[in-house]
Amino acid sequence: MPKPYYITTAIDYTNAAPHIGHAYEKVLADVMTRFQRLNGREVYFLTGVDQHGQKVQKSAEKAGLSPQEFVTGITKKFIALWDKINVRYNGWAATTDDKHKSVVQALLQELLDRGQLYKKSYRGFYSVRQEQFLTDKERGADGNYGEEWGEVVEIEEENWYFKLSEHIGWLRSFIQSHPDFITPAFRANDALNALEGGQDLCISRPKERLSWGIPLPFDKRFVNYVWFDALVNYVSFAGYLAEEVGNENLPDFAKLWPADAHVIGKDILVPAHAIYWPIMLHALGFTDDQMPKLIVHGWWNVKGSKMSKSTGNSIDPVALADMFTPDGLRYYLMRDIATGYDADFSEERITMSFNKELAGGLGNLLQRALSMAQKYRGGVIQASAYDDEINAVFRQTVTDAPAKYVERMNAWAIHDGIAEAWRIVTHANGFVDATLPFKLAKDEASAARLDSVLYHLAEALAHVSVLLSPVIPDAARQMRDQLGWRMPDGFMVSDLRWGLLKDGHHLGQPVPLFPRLEAAKETK
Ligand code: MSP
Repeated sequence: MPKPYYITTAIDYTNAAPHIGHAYEKVLADVMTRFQRLNGREVYFLTGVDQHGQKVQKSAEKAGLSPQEFVTGITKKFIALWDKINVRYNGWAATTDDKHKSVVQALLQELLDRGQLYKKSYRGFYSVRQEQFLTDKERGADGNYGEEWGEVVEIEEENWYFKLSEHIGWLRSFIQSHPDFITPAFRANDALNALEGGQDLCISRPKERLSWGIPLPFDKRFVNYVWFDALVNYVSFAGYLAEEVGNENLPDFAKLWPADAHVIGKDILVPAHAIYWPIMLHALGFTDDQMPKLIVHGWWNVKGSKMSKSTGNSIDPVALADMFTPDGLRYYLMRDIATGYDADFSEERITMSFNKELAGGLGNLLQRALSMAQKYRGGVIQASAYDDEINAVFRQTVTDAPAKYVERMNAWAIHDGIAEAWRIVTHANGFVDATLPFKLAKDEASAARLDSVLYHLAEALAHVSVLLSPVIPDAARQMRDQLGWRMPDGFMVSDLRWGLLKDGHHLGQPVPLFPRLEAAKETK
């Protein structure tokens, strides 16, 4: 038995409501979770929210709420979104959870005991927006700190530091000798470049500057730096130190760890996930074999620029799910981006993908196949009385798809996985055009051929309903309901073979899978 597949995402900041960038990442992880289950793996999917830190403290102040009240409100929006768009996780990581706080504190104590933390006074330039001290590396060509740092002030303060620089040599050789640590591989260079001149990491904030955080267990005048707290979620909610801190109902850490996939955006690879995180684990005694794997995705932009609340171009996933159905949104988010690269959000594209691909391609095929079967055969299909070359070629497309699909999905190329399933849809529509079942129906001598055509269509659709189930779970289930076919419990993608539907199988009545959108019709 392989270990359970442990997949996590970044935990989302709770300083603002979710936008489609957040939705994309969670859908990506949800699709992978569903796919791996279909692929026979036991999966544990953890996601959650990052609730501490300066940004939250400030947003709460602005809203006139306590930080806890504020994050509770925003957290609800995230949970409601995941619920709405069928993102189904096993564990929920909220960093204000007491159990998580205990693990963070235990871990800090452990690092102190291992001689990995020290206190020193530092005078330097501090970015209020980014909550970090800046070095000369961050200065622009003109010697000034760029706009991205916001207000920069010179301050002197005592803080606690983590001996990050001690482990840079280890990390460099770890990255070089473990090409599967970072996917896609080209991103490993970003990490290696960032190792140059690596300094120790300040892991505390004086309480008077930031109160909304986890107090250091050995020096209560400080709270823990938000990134340190946030990264720990991957282990604290997976059962790490569960016994020590009295955590119950968490997975068995020894079985679950290491994470098979931390799904994160490109902006938080360096330094947080590719540098701080492996070094934190290494300093705690985790071995090279116990390092997690990072899956780094690109960004959804709007007209080529970054989505942000301040510029008002942030796209609301709730409105999109209402308009295009949750599956319509999931499909678009998976189909219109190549994992690892950026994509541009386009209202026109999502409308087209819904109308042309989902409604016109898939929905229409199901509708045609079922209504012809109902009309000509009362919904009963016969498997094998007739065969010919056209049927055989179509069958080949259907039976070739699963292996290619599995290969692409395992490689995180979800858009290619969808394309493999879509070959069946496209071929099926062509198959109807080539065989002209409505003509066959008029000719008594073609009865057996018509049976074979109707059977081939239904069987192909049963295959498609399995292959697309990770991406469009609701529609895939409706397809199976209409086909009158239930995926047996524990059914795996490797169980797909011609003959899912038995001779004499009863198909159901067609119901439109993706009713066309009135407003969207105009852009067709
Ligand atoms: N709280 C930190 C992560 C801590 S993980 C230990 C954070 N939060 S975030 O809310 O800003 O971002 C959450 C995730 O959403 C990140 O992986 C980020 O890359 C991703 N995205 C944020 N905007 C995005 C897009 N526009 N497009 C795609 N993903 C984006 O960072």
